[in-house]
Parts: sequence; structure tokens; C-alpha cells
Amino acid sequence: MTDPIQSYFPTGNTEDAPTDPDVSRPFRELLEARVSRRDVLIGGAIAAVSNFMASSGVAALTRSLERPARLLVRAASGGSDDLLGFSPVHVHAEDRVRVPVGYTARPFLPAGTPICVPYPPYREGGLNTGADQESQAGHHHDGMHFFPLGEGEERNRHGLLCLNHEYIDIAKLHPAGPTVVDGQRTVADEVRKEVAAHGVSVVEIERGDDGSWQVVRGRFNRRITAATPTRFSGPVRGSDHVRTRYSPEGTASRGTLNNCAYGVTPWSTYLTCEENWAFYFVNRGDNPREHDRYGISSTRSRYGWATLQEIDEYARFDASRKGRSAVEDYRNEPNTMGWIVEIDPFDPDAVPVKRTALGRFAHEGCWAAPAVEGRPVVFYMGDDAMNEYIYKFVTAEPYRPGASRGEMLDDGVLYVARFEEDGSGTWLPLVHGDPDFEAACEAKGVVFADQADVLVNTRLAADTVGATPMDRPEWTVVHPDTGEVFCTLTNNALRGTVSDVDSANPRARNSFGHIIRWREEGDRYDALDFNWDIFVLGGPPEDSGVRGPDGTVPLDDTNMFASPDGLWIDARGVLWIELDMGTDQQVRELGRFGNNALLAADPLTGDIRRFLVGPRGQEITGCIGTPDGRTLFINVQHPGEGSEANPVLTSHWPEGGSARPRSSVVVITKDDGGVVGT
Ligand code: FEO
Ligand code: CA
Ligand code: CA
Ligand code: CA
Repeated sequence: MTDPIQSYFPTGNTEDAPTDPDVSRPFRELLEARVSRRDVLIGGAIAAVSNFMASSGVAALTRSLERPARLLVRAASGGSDDLLGFSPVHVHAEDRVRVPVGYTARPFLPAGTPICVPYPPYREGGLNTGADQESQAGHHHDGMHFFPLGEGEERNRHGLLCLNHEYIDIAKLHPAGPTVVDGQRTVADEVRKEVAAHGVSVVEIERGDDGSWQVVRGRFNRRITAATPTRFSGPVRGSDHVRTRYSPEGTASRGTLNNCAYGVTPWSTYLTCEENWAFYFVNRGDNPREHDRYGISSTRSRYGWATLQEIDEYARFDASRKGRSAVEDYRNEPNTMGWIVEIDPFDPDAVPVKRTALGRFAHEGCWAAPAVEGRPVVFYMGDDAMNEYIYKFVTAEPYRPGASRGEMLDDGVLYVARFEEDGSGTWLPLVHGDPDFEAACEAKGVVFADQADVLVNTRLAADTVGATPMDRPEWTVVHPDTGEVFCTLTNNALRGTVSDVDSANPRARNSFGHIIRWREEGDRYDALDFNWDIFVLGGPPEDSGVRGPDGTVPLDDTNMFASPDGLWIDARGVLWIELDMGTDQQVRELGRFGNNALLAADPLTGDIRRFLVGPRGQEITGCIGTPDGRTLFINVQHPGEGSEANPVLTSHWPEGGSARPRSSVVVITKDDGGVVGT
């Protein structure tokens, strides 16, 4: 069996790939339901909806921003005039990071930085071994959190940085790219290095008196990779779905994959989110629904790890049936991925836990709403693929400060969102035995054996109840003061063809993306209903708009953007927006949008300003600050994406010269020592 080498080694991520060719069916049913609902709306609302559905261009965008009918209740005077105090950065296509006048940006902790014993130094040119990589920062830094250490002022200069390593740039990881003979990976240490470059880093860091940050070679430092032992908890633990040759009991697995965005629990653990895990597997036999609905290939696995069949560690990426039962092969290995994984950064010996109650999909992030004593804890999650859904998880147990632990994540209700045309929305429970859920299953002829079956097949469950397919839901965040939840919808090339335009996803072939927001009924995060609107439609001035107190205003040269991905809201209420235009879009739009950037927004006034523009071929992600707001950390992921190894690299950031580009943290400070963004 010979696979074409190119198919193993896509230069970018696989997020743009549609994974559900059948999605048009449930969506059309949903649309029909909306049409009948429209008929009962009164007067102008009918005309507005009809106009919207029939029109295109700026007028339609403006209308979509002025609707839905029930706008969120907003404090018109709540915005502060001076929330943003910097001068916007212009777009550029240079191989450097630019920040506003009065700010400094310093690269820190690039891929390959030694962080664990024996601290193997980074070797330029892809010369590190697999064993080296297991003790070094991984590739493709993504979601990130700063857990302060100590007391008082120390918490602003000392802490644990947890960061995801989403995937790898395989051409640049090895001296001359991967070795492939007749479609087979033949050098096991190359694959060991690739596996080790995935996962999560936990790194103790400290700021010196000169303002620079250093890695502390302390006891907390840890690499979790695509091979680290993990355990299951929640309804799927011990079920037939996750029994494998490695874990016949279905209680454990190896590794976490394609770790994208993140979350933090109220009890200070880190949640890493498994996103495009499906593409690492191959199943050459009949693809069951729990593989097929997630896009697992029947011909090839990403990076070709599964071709190293003589090594069990890598053979598991081939999910084809080979044994007499599931405990003799890895037919269930894909079911061990696609979860929210809890990591305790303060316990370097803690086994990462796959919290299965939060569902299985292309998890982008897992953002906790502010925890309230005596109330359930609520987590918001996006499933980043075209026409996938937005979810929330509500714990069964109420939050008890100091007493609540990760077990709280094992029992609760997983909901999926339906956005109605009139600006209302509903959370639909995905609960086996729930009367509404069972009625939907019966109506669609879908059968789930139990809750483990529902969770392993979360996307199918969401299809079944009539959730709203969205334009690639990425990060979610909750405004600490208003309680509004924001979610990026990065883009969707299939909107208007595979899925129909609706008011929550108002543009056909949505190239530029938008940010939707909602407010829960009664301002209770565990509510079953919500009201939503669109905060901003990305794009150039003639095809964009941001909602402010005085209506809708187009974006301009100082803030136009495309493909919003990461989000973070700081303590002052600044919404930080991180961009991820893919390689094709960046090449196509370079003249207008430049390199991927970081913007700051005041969600109350609609003031948006471009704060930082990164080097070539990267995306901005991982934005997080110290408690005092005076240090901002971001990640620059995959600089030079789309270029092969030397001598044709498009980026040499951060080292410059002829160095290979490396994903890296960037530390941003204000030169006068002030709060970043002021
Ligand atoms: Fe990994 Fe959807 O970004
Ligand atoms: Ca990415
Ligand atoms: Ca992302
Ligand atoms: Ca993205």
C-alpha cells in the first residue's frame, strides 16, 4: 500500500476540511422550521427577515447587525472612553512583530526550548532527537494560560505557563523533512520526535529585574505529549467504545492530540482541547459512525505514523480491524481522542484526565463562566469545523470554593445551541433518556444505547436534535462584568451551499468571519434560553460592521480583520481578538489584511484597534496576561507556514538570519510599565 507523500504532510492545519457531507439534511429541516416560525412574527419583522434572506452585500450585513428583534440589554453608558489608549498598528507583510509606539515585544520560549531534565539544547536545522524533543517545548504553540505562583506582587512575575502544541511543521522538524520509502515511514525516531512535539508544556517562568522572562528549571516543568499515559473519567470510561489492546478495560489511553484552545477550571486546573485529532488516524475497513462523522480517512493518516506497524505506539493510529475483538487491535483508538483533557499544572505526577461528559468533537476551547458559589459551573465550547455547533456543559454539582475538584466534570448536562432567527436561542440537552432527546432520536430514526454512546457520537446527537450549524465556532469567552459570552466564527467556505445562510451566519461563503455573542436568560449561565446578536462582522470596509451604541459602523484601515480565532477578555474588559487567516487567504489578501494580527476591542463601545501584527505565515493565538495586566503573553504559531525547509523559507522569525522559523511566545510590555492596552 503506497500513499502519496504529500497527503501525509499538509503544510497547514486541517481545519478547513468539511467533515460532514450530510450536514445539509438536518440544516434544511431546521430552516424549514424557521420559515414556519417566521410566519407568526408580526409586521415589520417578517419584512426584515424576508429582505435579509433575499439580499446580499453591505445592506444585508447592516440589516443582520441591526437584527435580531430582541437586542441584548446593554448599558449604553457602560463603555469607557479610554479603555483603549494606544495608536493602532498598520497592516504589514514583513517578517517581524510590530506593536504600538510605546510598547515592546520580546520572543520567549520558542519551540525546542529545553524545559525538562536533562535540558537538551535546541539544535538548529532539525538536529534534535526524539528523546530531546520529549524534554523541550513542542511545536505550534496555541492556547495558553498563566497560573500565578506566590503571593502579592510575586504573582505578576512568577508563575506556571501552560501552553498547547497543536501540530507540527514536519518539513522543518527534521534535517531534510520526513523519511518516506514507498509510502512508509521508516525512521522510528523521526516519528518519536513528531509525537513528542505535540501536546502540552507546563513551564515555570519568572521575570527578572531587567524585565525579561526566564524559564525556571524547577519541579513543575513537564511535557505531556501524544504518547503520555492518560485516563478516562465520566460516562465513557470503561465502555466498549474505548476498549483497546492498550487498555482492555477501557479506562486509559496514550496521549493527547492537536491541542488547540484551552480552558481553566475554578479549581485552577488546565483544560486542553483535542481539535483535529481525526486526521491522525486511518481506518481502511468499514468506518463506523463514530469515525465517519468525524472525517477519519479510509486511505491515509496524517504524517503517516500508522505506517510504522511494528511499533505498537504508532500502530495504534491504524484503526482498521485486525484482531478478533476490540481488545486485540486499535479499532477504538480514534474514540480515545476528541475530548477535553484536564491537567493539574501544580502536580507534575498527575495523570491527565479525559473528561468524557463534555463530549467528543473537534474541541476548540472550553471556557468557564465565572463560578458562583452554590450554582453549577458552566463551560462553553466550540466545535471548529464548517457547519458544526456550539456547546455548553453544566455541572450537576454546585460549585463549592475550596472543595470542588475535577470530578465535578464527570456529571452534568451537555447542551448544544440552536440560534433562532428572531434573536432568541435555546440550549438543547444531549441526554440519553431525556424525553425531548428521545423524541428527536425517534423522529430521526437514530438510536443511542446509552449516554456513553451519545457522547462518543456527540456530533450525531447534535444533528439529531436540530442544533444550528455555525461558521466554524472557535474560541468562547465570557465578559466578567456583563456576563455576555463571545464566540468567534472564523469563516465558512460552504455557507450558502452545503448550509444555508441564516441570521446567525449571515454571509454566503463567509471568508472573513464574525463574532457572535449571547446573554443567558436571567443572567444565569445554566439557563436553557438565551438572546444573541452579532458583535462584529470581519472584512474590508465595504463588507464589514461592528455594533456600537450608535448603530453599525464599518471597519476601517485601523481595525479591519479576517478570520477571528482566539479570544480573551482581560480584567478591564478589553476583548482581545486573535487572527488566523489560513495560508491561502493570507497570500490572497496580503495587500489588504497583511500578516495575521492581534486586535483589542471595547465590546461596549465597538472601538476596535489593531494592536499587533505578527511575522510572515503565522497565526496569533494564546493571548493571556499577568494578574496586573502589565505583561501580555501571546503565541505566534507556525511562522513561515507554507514554505518548505531551507533554502526557500518565507520566515526566519524569531532568530532571523537563515534560521528556521519557530513558533514562539511573545512577551509584550508597555515601556512606561503601564497596563497593556492603555
Ligand atoms: Fe486549532 Fe480551530 O483552531
Ligand atoms: Ca492553529
Ligand atoms: Ca484556533
Ligand atoms: Ca483557526
